[in-house]
Amino acid sequence: MKKHIFSLMLVAAAAMVACSDAPHLSLQEQEAYKFADNLIEKMTLREKIGQLQQFTTRTAAITGPDGVKRDTEACIRNGEVGSFLSIRKTEEMLRLQKIAVEESRLGIPLIFGYDIIHGCRTTFPENLAVSCTWDIEAIEHSARIAAIETAAAGIHWTFSPMCDISADPRWGRVSEGAGEDPYLGSKISAAMVRGYQGEDLSADNTIAACIKHFAAYGAGQAGRDYHTVDMSEMMFRDRFLPPYRSAVESGAVTAMSSFNDFMGIPASGSKWLLHTLLREELGFTGFVVSDYNAVHEMVRHATAADGKDAACQAMNAHLNMDMVYGDYLKYGEELVKEGKVSEKRINQLCREVLAVKYRLGLFDDPYKYGRQNHDEVMYRPDNLQFAREVAAKSMVLLSNNGVLPLKEGVKIALIGPLADAPRDQIGAWPGWGQAEHSVTIRKGLEQRFGAKNVIYAKGSDFRAPIKGGIDDAVRAARKADVVLLSIGLSYTESGEATSLTEITVPEAQQALLDAVKRTGKKVVVLLGTGRAMDVRNEIEKADAVLVTWHGGTMEGPAVADLVSGDKNPSGHLTMSFPYCVGQVPVHYNNKITGRPRKGPEHDKKYLSRYMYTPNEPLFAFGYGLSYTEFEYSDLQVLTPEVSLGGVVKVSVKVKNVGKRDGEDVAQLYVRDLVAETTRPMRELKGFERLSLKAGEEKVVEFEIPTSDLAYCHRDLTTYTDAGDFLVWAGADSDAKLEGKFTIK
Ligand code: GLC
Repeated sequence: MKKHIFSLMLVAAAAMVACSDAPHLSLQEQEAYKFADNLIEKMTLREKIGQLQQFTTRTAAITGPDGVKRDTEACIRNGEVGSFLSIRKTEEMLRLQKIAVEESRLGIPLIFGYDIIHGCRTTFPENLAVSCTWDIEAIEHSARIAAIETAAAGIHWTFSPMCDISADPRWGRVSEGAGEDPYLGSKISAAMVRGYQGEDLSADNTIAACIKHFAAYGAGQAGRDYHTVDMSEMMFRDRFLPPYRSAVESGAVTAMSSFNDFMGIPASGSKWLLHTLLREELGFTGFVVSDYNAVHEMVRHATAADGKDAACQAMNAHLNMDMVYGDYLKYGEELVKEGKVSEKRINQLCREVLAVKYRLGLFDDPYKYGRQNHDEVMYRPDNLQFAREVAAKSMVLLSNNGVLPLKEGVKIALIGPLADAPRDQIGAWPGWGQAEHSVTIRKGLEQRFGAKNVIYAKGSDFRAPIKGGIDDAVRAARKADVVLLSIGLSYTESGEATSLTEITVPEAQQALLDAVKRTGKKVVVLLGTGRAMDVRNEIEKADAVLVTWHGGTMEGPAVADLVSGDKNPSGHLTMSFPYCVGQVPVHYNNKITGRPRKGPEHDKKYLSRYMYTPNEPLFAFGYGLSYTEFEYSDLQVLTPEVSLGGVVKVSVKVKNVGKRDGEDVAQLYVRDLVAETTRPMRELKGFERLSLKAGEEKVVEFEIPTSDLAYCHRDLTTYTDAGDFLVWAGADSDAKLEGKFTIK
């Protein structure tokens, strides 16, 4: 019977759209809203509020402070819940869906969400690592693979992409984002939304994306998770807003409000953020879910007297769904009866949730997700091979005195807590990734060099020595030609609630480096991490340092591909590696100040500088070495003068002057010489990943629409001025080749 009602309503909705009066909505959106409005007419107030409530279950993955447990099945039958998160079994989701569809009064399907952040079963490197590929197509494809596996798992919705810009490696969640730059971050957010949602959200292998964490969660004071975010609206609009906007423009159908207070108001209760900016200005038309318990946490923020006040503020701020705590369900009807929240508001919040369920095709076929054969979809060899390629492209060679690539037949001592660490390599937020499927660095090297040529010793734990560990490591080193030292941070030191005040390799592991160094053998440090780190010690003592990140299921073969020279390193940093934590937050796109220090030679007293430490990070945004050399020359500004609305064209020659084929990332930076507000010294406005054979030269041509040079003015409107600009091109944000153009 219910199925029949929905079928009739589906037809009616499609028919009614033809004369719809919402031109800013796509036809699919208009059809979805028509369907939702029809359904809402049949719903009780409690059922409508039920759609605004998301719960977890007793057997779900825990991703926050214990959610208030309740009788899951009773809630579903009573229409008191619209969504669940973090359920780890397909059959459990299908079982709960069956109860919703066949045992509740109206049979409204549930929507299941999960944190598929960098892959479902096939786990890609953590997102910061993947951003270091600068390969937008590969990033989109990795999200596509994740979506296909996720849909097969029975999950409709991923809480990704994380669009939070951050330049603070004390904050462990930098591992989930795309680094410090808004231009690159915007390209990556859009690519991930396209990958997840595909061309047709109703297809059975596309899933709903989620723009998070709205907003500016990556700017928490002192790098402490959940901490206060306070900045000018100008700074927010120029540096933090672009990736969220890009994800909206790419059609993401959900968003997530962040834990932090923003300009004095918790994001989940900020009508300016969730309605005025997100919907009225950016044109978002989907629904917003709070972060975990974030509605109720307004009481802790002390901007709500109690859960009822928090629910009232959040609903009136246009927050659609309460994740886990339950204040929406508990107080929703009371708030309407007391006139504090209108039923019209409830209808609006509910229709936006129902419309996304409709667009996913859940009313048409509530069991379409999870039906696929896991053996055919999960861990497909071609996808594992692709994950291996992405992992290799993500790794960044920071230093190399020629020790890499290793020679054939070399005997390797592989040492360190990350050398054979199947769980650590799939990082934080592993989705449905399984450590038992990880191909570790040890396994990858054995496969490539032969097990007899790899002598393994763990050597130490992450933050504590192992009894006899150093001796084992030294013994292994003495038997080998070269040491590969796989050290860094564990997966428990990446992601949510993992802020650190020290960003150096832990002492127990530094002792390992010192011990193997004393054997006189060549040492290559493989740095496993989800964040930028202070690597002065490793750079000084090792013969090479390769950042291997938390490289995902196929990290091992990827490392072997690089250290053997089968592949050439090509990753470029998307987050500055500080000289020391005292510089943090450090990023390339600083403003110049009124007393700029123009480099080490310009060290007078009254300058914006530190007394005993450089201003510059140890490794700059955009930096990354290769086994070959790329030479940049002949920067040409092809359009010295451009009218507003035109396109600036700049070309540069790139030549592979080394003896090996390789890939590089040509980057273009711009500076607005005189503006109404202070502007960054440099801003990334173009990049191209290119492959060059030994000796080959290419001319890279960048096109910058003048609209890309817009910035937030004193009246808080964003547009491009006429004026003079400098432009640089090269292989990192310190690019030296310079040109100039004018916008008329
Ligand atoms: C967590 C995270 C958020 C995640 C959500 C659901 O607290 O902040 O990124 O999507 O809860 O697990």
